[in-house]
Amino acid sequence: MRKTLPKKGRGWRDLETRMGRMRKGDMDWRRGRHSFHVWYGGDGLFEIQKRAYAMFMQENGGGVGRTFMSLKIMEDEVIDFGAGLLNAPKAVGHITSGGSESIFVAMKAARDWARVKLPGARRPEVVIPYSGHPTFNRAADYLGLTIKRVAVGSDYRADAAAMEKAITRNTIALVGSAVCFPFGVVDPIRDLGRVARRHGLWLHVDACVGGYTAPFVKKLGYPVPDFDFKVPGVCSMSADLHKYGFCAKGTSTVFYRNPGLAKYQPFDFKDWPQGRFECPNVASTRPGGSISAAWAVMNHLGEEGYLKLNKRLMRMRQRYINGIKAIDGLYIRGEPELLIVSYGSEVIDMGAVAEEMQRRKWFVGSQVSPPGIMIGLSLPHEAVVGEYLDDLSRSVTKAKKAGKGKRRRAVRSVY
Ligand SMILES: Cc1ncc(COP(=O)(O)O)c(C=O)c1O
Repeated sequence: MRKTLPKKGRGWRDLETRMGRMRKGDMDWRRGRHSFHVWYGGDGLFEIQKRAYAMFMQENGGGVGRTFMSLKIMEDEVIDFGAGLLNAPKAVGHITSGGSESIFVAMKAARDWARVKLPGARRPEVVIPYSGHPTFNRAADYLGLTIKRVAVGSDYRADAAAMEKAITRNTIALVGSAVCFPFGVVDPIRDLGRVARRHGLWLHVDACVGGYTAPFVKKLGYPVPDFDFKVPGVCSMSADLHKYGFCAKGTSTVFYRNPGLAKYQPFDFKDWPQGRFECPNVASTRPGGSISAAWAVMNHLGEEGYLKLNKRLMRMRQRYINGIKAIDGLYIRGEPELLIVSYGSEVIDMGAVAEEMQRRKWFVGSQVSPPGIMIGLSLPHEAVVGEYLDDLSRSVTKAKKAGKGKRRRAVRSVY
């Protein structure tokens, strides 16, 4: 039965109690039971986010230049910070609502650029690695593009040579990830840049996961392949602040190498009573709070804060990697550079492992092909490394016992 609006309004205490009750069945991310969905940078940062968000919660980030100069100043600063981190001195950027919106608008820009530069591409195609995020298919569905997925190499990275072979006269763009969601590895962006330039194509780098952590991890001395605007051929990039930028949900950034490419993003229209309507984003009304919270978090952390946090997270990541490798039958997929780690097995039914972990109240990121499990680490995972590994070890033992003489089952994805 449908609920009806209460006849009389309820007070805050009542509402708080009800909401508290409703969240009882939620995944307990504060105790690190999650694999992704929450990328948490600690209670202190959360407090800064909350206060800054609330301060501009009623303000509208749409049309910022004309109405709320405060938000325009903050957005410009955030974009400057991002452009600096991603080696993009002449870049034009925008804050969007998330990785998906950043990808949508970048694909729209690539499509409209190709209408001018590649008129022979009548049925525009985008070539992406098999590990690319589904949002590329979603955006293509909206934008009238076709996505061609190409198998990754044995190192789980995009296979630039195979992607080059997939190029046809309809191809308008290539995509690489830094890092990809399933395996946490950086694609060979330099190779993709060379291919893109050779064929005169647009290259988008999806750095939704890695954009705001890779620069710091690299500075800490870890090997991270080049993936940003330093690489010739990179035209646009998506980089999420609400993941490893540790900002409030609903905040990503999109960048273009120069204004000549960026001009294809906005929607520009004037045939209605209000006159000209020019908008770079998908949304017209935008939450001022996500802009102010991003500005506050980035200024609060500064380079020092991001380095400190990433150092701590990378150390924790090593404990997970060591522990997973120590479990007989499991192996880490590829050589993940940042904070997503994926593991699988040649001999154990990973579906059974995932199910047992799930039974033990871990929300695992199951993978279907190839079967495996991924985890995107952030601070709540620090306190539960031992517990996770113990449960994983027990789950593997159970799966091994149950699997004797049985056929391996397919893994059901829980994305
Ligand atoms: C590599 C990658 N790209 C894009 C996205 C989509 O981002 P969002 O969920 O913020 O829309 C994700 C989400 O996890 C991602 O991992």
